[in-house]
Amino acid sequence: MPTFDLSADDRFILEIDAQRIEFIAREHPNAPGIAHAIEGGKATVYRVTDTATQKDYALKVMKQQHRDPALTDICQRLRALSTVRGLAACDRVCLTDASSGPTVRRYPDLRYAILMQWITGRTWFDTIRSRGQLRMPDALRLGLRLASVLDELEGRKLSHCDIAGGNVIFDPTTFEIELIDVEDVYGPGFERPRAVPLGTQGYQHRKSAGGQWSADADRFAGAVMLAEMLGWYDHRVRDNAWGETYFEPDELQDENSWRYPILRRALEAFSLSLGILLERAWRSIELAECPSLAEWQRHLETAAPPDVDRRSVAKPRWVPLGPVPPPPPPPGTTFLPLPIESIANTSAGGWTGPIEHDAMHGSPPFWKALPVAAASADPPSSPAQPDPTDRRT
Ligand SMILES: Nc1ncnc2c1ncn2[C@@H]1O[C@H](COP(=O)(O)OP(=O)(O)O)[C@@H](O)[C@H]1O
Ligand SMILES: [Mg+2]
Repeated sequence: MPTFDLSADDRFILEIDAQRIEFIAREHPNAPGIAHAIEGGKATVYRVTDTATQKDYALKVMKQQHRDPALTDICQRLRALSTVRGLAACDRVCLTDASSGPTVRRYPDLRYAILMQWITGRTWFDTIRSRGQLRMPDALRLGLRLASVLDELEGRKLSHCDIAGGNVIFDPTTFEIELIDVEDVYGPGFERPRAVPLGTQGYQHRKSAGGQWSADADRFAGAVMLAEMLGWYDHRVRDNAWGETYFEPDELQDENSWRYPILRRALEAFSLSLGILLERAWRSIELAECPSLAEWQRHLETAAPPDVDRRSVAKPRWVPLGPVPPPPPPPGTTFLPLPIESIANTSAGGWTGPIEHDAMHGSPPFWKALPVAAASADPPSSPAQPDPTDRRT
């Protein structure tokens, strides 16, 4: 069986609900000739472009042990959340034998792979790793955006369950935030995952060793990330960050941590109450004892000077906001157009055309393109090439 390995500019076809869509693999920004692939703990994510529409997508190819049939239902359920602020990555399709038989038979690696929109921006992981700087008002903006997204989830009784640097993408201009890696989202009535998420090192509450899949699963990780973001303007915080997270994983909730007072002081420059919220999370025995995300949101709004916009005001660029399923936007409005690029190997044939966005319940799935294009040639067979740079959770 051919493995699904992509090099930059490889073209390949995905068959989804009897439609054949041609994609091209984007080149890694720092590695000419190599596909833009990012390896996480459960999957490798490729940046690919629909050759007809020039829209960018993320193709999340699950590692073998994470190819779980339950992903079919999970993705279906997530689609209903895709209009919630910060959850655009829920607009997705899972490749299964039913939806994509020819593709997954040819490339078994693609069984339960997930196709979703590519979200532009920087991950928080990248920012910490590169010690990227933030001005004080921007740190506050970023913290407000994250608090706002997490508060909204909390208000809907949802939790992401793995708030970590690699799972949070922000726009460096507007500071709007999108959460990715949403397969383990908790919600009322959702089926408990076979492997309950444990969170990611550097953001794990001491009780998370037994798994964190509950309404309050984001309280501790959210507090740590909010503190990282808010404190990042301070060079003492950046200079003393442990690595890809501010805290060394074993240091979390340790009363002797020397990094803790540095971060807390940076928060207190905004407001003493923010330091107290962090302290409550730090000392908590149970997740539920951590401050709610609504509390963070409230105190951040109070801390923000009038010239810092309090809540996320800009609409996400790809989906309408609001709890009620909105009508689908017109074709072509939901994904960010970006420069082209390419990858992998697949079979011939092809159809292309604008991809419609599925806003939510009842509307057609977003990958259902309109016109059918001419068949494409067999994709180039390129040897697998490892992504040299990206390693994220
Ligand atoms: N929709 C997306 N848009 C842009 N980048 C993405 C998207 N999904 C994933 N990524 C990138 O791929 C990385 C790994 O994806 P993720 O879903 O977190 O995989 P894992 O479950 O293995 O942790 C992320 O840290 C992010 O950099
Ligand atoms: Mg991840």
